Order: sequence, then structure tokens, then C-alpha cells
Amino acid sequence: MSSELESKSLAVINCSQVVTLAGPARPRVGAELRELSIVESGGLFVRDGLIERVGTSAEISSLTDNDTTVVDAGGRVVLPGFVDAHTHPVFAGTRVDEFEERSKGATYQEIAARGGGIQSTVNRTRATSLNELIATCRRYAEWFLRGGTTTVEAKSGYGLSVEDEIKILRAIRQLDRETSLRYVPTFLGAHSIPPEYHSRRDEFVSLIVEEMLPRIAQEKLAEYCDVFCEEKVFTIDESWKILSAARCHGLGLRMHADQLSLSGGAKLAAELGTVTADHLEHTDAEGIAALKQAGVQPVLLPGSVYALGSSHYPAAREMIDAGLALVLATDFNPGSSPTPSMTMILSLASTHMKITPAEAITATTINAAYSLNRGEQLGSLEPGKIADFVIHDCDDYRELAYFFGVQHPWQVYSAGCLLKAAD
Ligand code: NIG
Ligand code: FE
Repeated sequence: MSSELESKSLAVINCSQVVTLAGPARPRVGAELRELSIVESGGLFVRDGLIERVGTSAEISSLTDNDTTVVDAGGRVVLPGFVDAHTHPVFAGTRVDEFEERSKGATYQEIAARGGGIQSTVNRTRATSLNELIATCRRYAEWFLRGGTTTVEAKSGYGLSVEDEIKILRAIRQLDRETSLRYVPTFLGAHSIPPEYHSRRDEFVSLIVEEMLPRIAQEKLAEYCDVFCEEKVFTIDESWKILSAARCHGLGLRMHADQLSLSGGAKLAAELGTVTADHLEHTDAEGIAALKQAGVQPVLLPGSVYALGSSHYPAAREMIDAGLALVLATDFNPGSSPTPSMTMILSLASTHMKITPAEAITATTINAAYSLNRGEQLGSLEPGKIADFVIHDCDDYRELAYFFGVQHPWQVYSAGCLLKAAD
């Protein structure tokens, strides 16, 4: 999509619902997750890329003058752009062959154990130049935007060498500059141990701590550091070393925790006080209590449970009941979750995790924005915030979770600019 500066002010009128998510300036918990602060028969006034006013359609119409572009939403619903707080959007090739093998019964772990999985994407990504990688990944930026996502957290992790991890983070920086999608970069050098280090894992951990992290911090290529903490991937001790070092370099911390087994990831996240603990499919009541105690936000990824053919969804209801500030994201990646669709995630959350559409929308907008340190600028439609919003082609926001497999957005705006589909 390309963006086009309209006039200085923009009024969106005649919306059946403006789902503002206005509320306290912090992530929402408990019953707050259901409070969407909807303005019925509403509208939105935008000036210089920022939201100036939200009100009834009549109030917004009265603010217009000759310099205002007026958009008649035709009774549709307006929401903030989705904030996808966990993606792996920079990789070369696909894993469509492995997908076919899994359709015949092979498991994700079996494929990984014979050198496929993450490593097969690493091999292809290493063999691809920075410019080719950027060209490939523009396609995914388009997918996110067309689906109503205006911000993504973006992880590296398919390089696993100093130069290749830096190449991926530079690709993320370039995509952020040249597309209308906002990227928040995360360094995930600890995604897998590459084969050349299998017999000397300590040296790979040292490479991350002593070479990758200092370079990445010095070039300011990442805001966060993540580790895939899992049996047979990075142990609790190794994860602790890497995340502690990342913290010393000023990076925020995130973790892939308890995805495939109960391996103590959530407890480590709590001990370290990470910003988020992600996946959590196998986290137990003790782990949930530890996350609550430490104020860690859970980022749940039902797309990867679905796409791996599992039914082991995380204990989302227990997490809400415990007072955790829930986030839902796609985990977009070529292996376990090849979807950029946040409305697919809303559907999975309501169908398989018994999360109401309202809770799921809070978890994919304002709560997600706070988990990325963007809660003051993004994630809700409130005066002073950046005007990233989407007009969806329905008149009740619950349809976004209900009709699945449908492309809902009618118009997508980034900083008040209408994005146009590329020819
Ligand atoms: O979040 N868990 C590790 N990483 C990804 C999978 C990446 C891949 O299969 O390429 C995930 O599921
Ligand atoms: Fe992931």
C-alpha cells in the first residue's frame, strides 16, 4: 500500500460505532478488558496525523470547514489499527513443503529434529541479500496493512550469525522507513542453536552475549531482546544469561516461554521481570501467579496452536481472572503460524479460548500497544494519539471475530493518511 497525504484535517462521520478503547492510561485488566468505550453513531476528527476529537457524527460534522476531507463511513465500524505484538516477519522462502509433510502426519518437532523447521528458514535467509530480503518482506507488510494491522513487533532470529542477525534487523529498520506499517524491532538471536554450534552450545551463547548484543545495542537496531526458552532449545540458565546481558545493554525483555512444554519459562520471566512472556500454552497456575506478582504481560498466540494442529490453547481465562493484562498476537512466521490476520486471532480467541470479542479487541489494541511501550501514542482513539485507525465493513464490532476468513477492512489509515492498495 502507498500512503497519500490528504488535506490537513480529516473528518470521519456516520460510523455505526467508534470503538475508542478510551480509558485509564495503562494496560487493562479484569473487567476493564470488556470496556471498549464505544461511541454509537459516532465520528472522528483528525488534524496533522493526530486525533483531535471523537464524538457523535453530528458533533464531528460541525467541526468541518473547506479544508477538511470528509469521509462518510456509511454506517461502518471504526477501530484503532491492530497492534500485533509478536511477529517474525523477515525471512526468505516458505516452508510449504514441511506444511505438506505435516498434513500427512509428520510433527513440527520431528521436522525440526532432522534439520528442517527454523533451521531450513535460517539456511535460506542467510543466502539472501539485504535488498532481496526487503523486497520479499514488503509483501508481508501489505498483508498486515490490508488486514487492519498498523503496528507490528518484529523479531530477527533467522540469521543466527552476527552478520545475518544484523542484516535482518537492518531489513526491519528499512521496512519501517519505507512502508506505512510501524515496526518495533526485537533481537531474537537466541531462536535456535545452529548446527555448527551443536557440540559447543556455550560458545553460541557467548557469541550472542559478547558479539551480537553489543553490536546491536551500539547500532540501536533493537528495542527488545527475546529468547526461545524451551527444552532442547535454550535452557533456563542460558536464557537467564542472554536476557540479563540484554538488560545491561538497555534492551527491554520478552520471552518465548512454555510453548511446547512446561519448562519453567514463565517463572523465569517473572524472576527477571520481563515486559512480556509469550505463548504460555503449558504454563500452570503457579506460573500464572508468578507473572501476576511480577507484572509481566502474557502474549498469547492461538494462531500457532491452530496451525500446528494442536488443541492445547493457553489458559487465557485463568490469566484474565488472575488479573493479567492480556495481549493476543499472530506470531506470524513461516513455520508454526503463517498468518498475519488479527481477525483470525479474534476468531480463535473467542472460539477456542472463550475470550469475548470485546476482551480480544482490547488484547489486540491498547494492551498490545502498552506491551511495546507505545501505549501513550497508539492502541486507542483518544485526542492526542496518532490517527492509526481502520474502517471495517460491518456495523457491529463483534462481526470481526464472528465472520472468519473474511477481509474486513474497508479503509486503513496510518497517521491520518489513507492507505491505497498497490496496483
Ligand atoms: O513462535 N517458537 C519459536 N519460534 C516460532 C516458530 C518459528 C518457526 O517455526 O519458524 C514461534 O512459534
Ligand atoms: Fe514466536
